[in-house]
Amino acid sequence: MDSTQQRIELLRQQLHDYNYHYYVLSQPLISDREFDQLMQELIDLETQHPEFHDPNSPTQRVGSDINKGFTQVVHRYPMLSLQNTYSEGEVADFYNRVKRALNEEFEIVCELKYDGTSISLHYENGQLSRAVTRGDSKKGDDVTTNVRTIRNIPLMLKGDNIPESVELRGEIVMPWSSFEALNREREEQEEILFANPRNAASGTLKMQDSRVVASRKLESYIYIMLGEELPTDSHYHNLSIAREWGFNVSRTMRKCKSLEEIFAFLRQWDVERKTLPVTTDGVVLKVDSLRQQRSLGSTSKFPRWAIAYKFNAEQALTRLESVSWQVGRTGAVTPVANLEPVLLSGTTVKRASLYNEDAINALDLHIGDMVYVEKGGEIIPKITGVDKEARFMIGDKVVFTKTCPDCRTPLVRNDDEAVHYCPNSEGCPPQIKGRIEHFVTRKAMDITIGPETISLLYDKGLIHDAADLYSLRFEDLIGLERWAETSARNLLTSIEKSKSVPYERVLFALGIRFVGETVAQKLAHAFPSIDALAVATTDELMLVEEIGERIAKSVIDYFRNPKYVDFVDRLRKSGLQFTLNEEMLAAQSDKLKGLTFVISGTFNLHSRDEYKAMIQQHGGRNSGSVSKNTDFVLAGDNMGPAKLEKAEKLGVKIIDELSFLEMLG
Ligand code: IVH
Repeated sequence: MDSTQQRIELLRQQLHDYNYHYYVLSQPLISDREFDQLMQELIDLETQHPEFHDPNSPTQRVGSDINKGFTQVVHRYPMLSLQNTYSEGEVADFYNRVKRALNEEFEIVCELKYDGTSISLHYENGQLSRAVTRGDSKKGDDVTTNVRTIRNIPLMLKGDNIPESVELRGEIVMPWSSFEALNREREEQEEILFANPRNAASGTLKMQDSRVVASRKLESYIYIMLGEELPTDSHYHNLSIAREWGFNVSRTMRKCKSLEEIFAFLRQWDVERKTLPVTTDGVVLKVDSLRQQRSLGSTSKFPRWAIAYKFNAEQALTRLESVSWQVGRTGAVTPVANLEPVLLSGTTVKRASLYNEDAINALDLHIGDMVYVEKGGEIIPKITGVDKEARFMIGDKVVFTKTCPDCRTPLVRNDDEAVHYCPNSEGCPPQIKGRIEHFVTRKAMDITIGPETISLLYDKGLIHDAADLYSLRFEDLIGLERWAETSARNLLTSIEKSKSVPYERVLFALGIRFVGETVAQKLAHAFPSIDALAVATTDELMLVEEIGERIAKSVIDYFRNPKYVDFVDRLRKSGLQFTLNEEMLAAQSDKLKGLTFVISGTFNLHSRDEYKAMIQQHGGRNSGSVSKNTDFVLAGDNMGPAKLEKAEKLGVKIIDELSFLEMLG
């Protein structure tokens, strides 16, 4: 199983478990915020890896115990989607189909197609009564509380002649500016980034904490009015009236009387959408008269009176000014294109990723070239092509740097990887600074110091690695340019405070390759002191859940390197935590000493991880498969049939969670 699949499985299991605790036991194990983060991570992984789709994933469940607070509501009119077209020819086909079917005059309303998530808004007596997501098109989630926080959705309608009951549908979007601010914040907090504003909008709408929704600055664009008594028989006119009631209806919509007018709209907005503050991915064409709409009807999936015309991915043409090389904390060197600033999907783009040597060679890139940049869903724009016709003078060919841009050490590239590394991990400044930056992050030692200060202290020779932070003195800092007494004291206090950061976070801070936050926690529980971890063998390491050969090898390599051993030693002398805290240690015993357990199935009282940790805490061993060496199988619901059969055959004792907890007293 690859690591992504393992992560997906783990998240699914955890989320099921958290849901159960929240819903069935009314004993939430984690905060709503943490829940939302895990759910978002799973949604993102599942979107990126459709091959791991599972209809029983917590992301797929529509029942009440999954989207926690959200109840399901059946749509009065199903929320159909639109047939997509990609060329003017297909648009003409649609137009002619409508013309033949109606056999009378008609008008087409052209609207921009906003790229977010759709919402159905119900108003009773002019008051917002309910907001429902599209869901499976027949029923969706009631997200009224979250929708109330969206500023341009009226809670009360203005004006006269408002129908007693009316439904408005539209798109909830996240403007580029909010999206970028949100991702910047997430990056700082080392949270997973949203891939695009659409995911950010739909993810936000499904959050549990509506205060967070409020802070995310979502917007709405209303595109249809539905109900038994509507103000007029014209879609266009009804939307104009909705605007007067207080809805945000785009002023870009146009009524067109001919195919030529439609084409003019498509061409105009293919260009002008680039200046809009939100993402649009096409144009929606709708027959204006509601009577004609009814006469055209719908198929089971799409209305016959409307289609979507999709734009090609947004591109901009600009000049490549230079290429710079960035060195990360692991030594990986990434090429970055510096561009003449250009407007793309509402933001100014100055830099683009060039990925690696193969990507650069495939483009045959020269400095000064006019290049196409695209923001295809990803956060960082990429260069997708070169306009060779525009090359009137040819600049230097872009070749991947042979040496580290910083320390000049020749780079290495492993045969099976596209990435170049600077091997000078001990002497290359950006790598050293990067490691210190990692050490101080919030989820690690949480020391309040920014990259500029780290760089300054390093350049002044005051720190050479993270352990040196603990020998910084007030006099060292106060002597620095523009350093006032308070900032010096604040930094020293923050460093001092970090000495009480628990062992598992210290382990994460060390920056051992592949040892992220979760792995560090697992290791800390399995090996409650760094001394125990330092002497662990590959086999012992691999017994810990989620630890495979790659991680085990990396841990072993780390503790074999005298430089790192010395580094850990210096940190220890400075008073950092290298053992699990008293409380955890106190909970340890020898009760399960010498016993090997296999855990199978799903549990109600604790999660599998918790049971694994308990077994370790009390001196027992966890194993993945049943053998003659197994003493107990701790069985939950839906235990694997193969395991059950084997355990029975070998006469291994099968116990449930209550008996297990009794064993521990
Ligand atoms: S009309 C039956 N108008 O695109 C017609 N949809 O692929 C219902 N969308 O689910 C849709 N902008 O979320 C319509 N101006 C617009 C739109 C629009 C964006 C979304 C909507 C819908 C999807 C259809």
